Amino acid sequence: MNKMKANVFHGAGDIRVEEIERPHAGVGEAVIRITLTTICGTDLHILRGEYPVAPGLVLGHEPVGVIEELGAGVTGYEIGERVLVGAITPCGQCRACLSGQLSQCGKQEGYKAIGGWQFGNTINGAQAEYLRVPNAQANLARIPDELSDEQVVLLADIASTGFGGAESGKIRLGDAVVVFAQGPIGLCATAGARLMGASMIIAIDGDEHRLAMAKRMGADIVLDYREVDVVSEVLRLTGGGADVAIEALGTQPTFESALRSLRPGGTLSSLGVYSGKLQIPYEAFAAGIGDHRIVTTLCPGGKERMRRLMELVRSGRLDPTPLLTHTFSLENIAGAYELFGERRDDVLKIAIKP
Ligand SMILES: NC(=O)c1ccc[n+]([C@@H]2O[C@H](COP(=O)([O-])OP(=O)(O)OC[C@H]3O[C@@H](n4cnc5c(N)ncnc54)[C@H](O)[C@@H]3O)[C@@H](O)[C@H]2O)c1
Ligand SMILES: [Zn+2]
Ligand SMILES: [Zn+2]
Repeated sequence: MNKMKANVFHGAGDIRVEEIERPHAGVGEAVIRITLTTICGTDLHILRGEYPVAPGLVLGHEPVGVIEELGAGVTGYEIGERVLVGAITPCGQCRACLSGQLSQCGKQEGYKAIGGWQFGNTINGAQAEYLRVPNAQANLARIPDELSDEQVVLLADIASTGFGGAESGKIRLGDAVVVFAQGPIGLCATAGARLMGASMIIAIDGDEHRLAMAKRMGADIVLDYREVDVVSEVLRLTGGGADVAIEALGTQPTFESALRSLRPGGTLSSLGVYSGKLQIPYEAFAAGIGDHRIVTTLCPGGKERMRRLMELVRSGRLDPTPLLTHTFSLENIAGAYELFGERRDDVLKIAIKP
């Protein structure tokens, strides 16, 4: 059998599960048999034609599987081992990687913006029966026996990104933190703020189910942006502004509200993927001399990042499984995209099983 089923992108609004060539491992590569994957909000941007990728590409960037093939030069692993691979697959050898900026990996050379994101972007992705993993030595993270696929699948992207927002914001013990939007990414940013030692976490969304989940993930206070003026409420609750505001949607209003919610010298940690032009209002920015910090983060990847996140789950510090609300087969993935895109049935993340 040299064929496999895969979810192939053919153009805006057009994805199809098809039989295509099964990948094989070249030098430094591995092939894993996918046992569990999921759909990301970014896949919806791709399906809607808002983020361009080449027609013919297999989508998906959240792989859990079993090693099927190891290419020459990949050592210390065995066929049949269970592995988690991050959404971002750095080479581990370029200037960016060796300077600790793995997500902006230049693939053996300098830096490339978003260069670490390859699966379902520049190379075939994880919504398939098999996946070729580039730079396998830097990217295969062994899954401890006591952890299930369901416990680790959200670490590949969602948790790594959300926590990355909290880490880039350099949250300190006792900080007051506000998180704008409580989709899967924002919910993990909320959980990350708690792990980083915030003393007050304010979570903002307009969906009751998501606000309830925010409480479960660690928010002390939840605000519905449809009902209250969130900026003045945050300023009141924090006594003059949050230390760190995390933006987890990618729009002008949430970016601006995050900036306006900060105390002078506070940090805006931005996770959203924006389109068009983003403007910074003069007064919210204290004319450029308010000592604000604005930082952005692409999901951190690589095997050491995955190992650390799995340790958080193993030790009981983090339980991402409540975010996995539905299960679909790969065959029926179109239905899963529909449900996810329309946010029906209180969906958060969907387990996809090949
Ligand atoms: N930085 C990264 O590496 C990275 C990785 C993955 C996804 N993303 C991006 O993160 C963003 C969020 O992804 P997601 O999957 O969590 O999104 P999502 O669409 O599932 O959730 C967005 C949430 O925002 C809420 N919302 C809408 N308007 C709001 C407002 N004005 N104020 C507060 N909340 C509001 C919605 O109710 C919803 O719950 C997207 O832009 C996605 O592309 C970034
Ligand atoms: Zn993603
Ligand atoms: Zn690199």
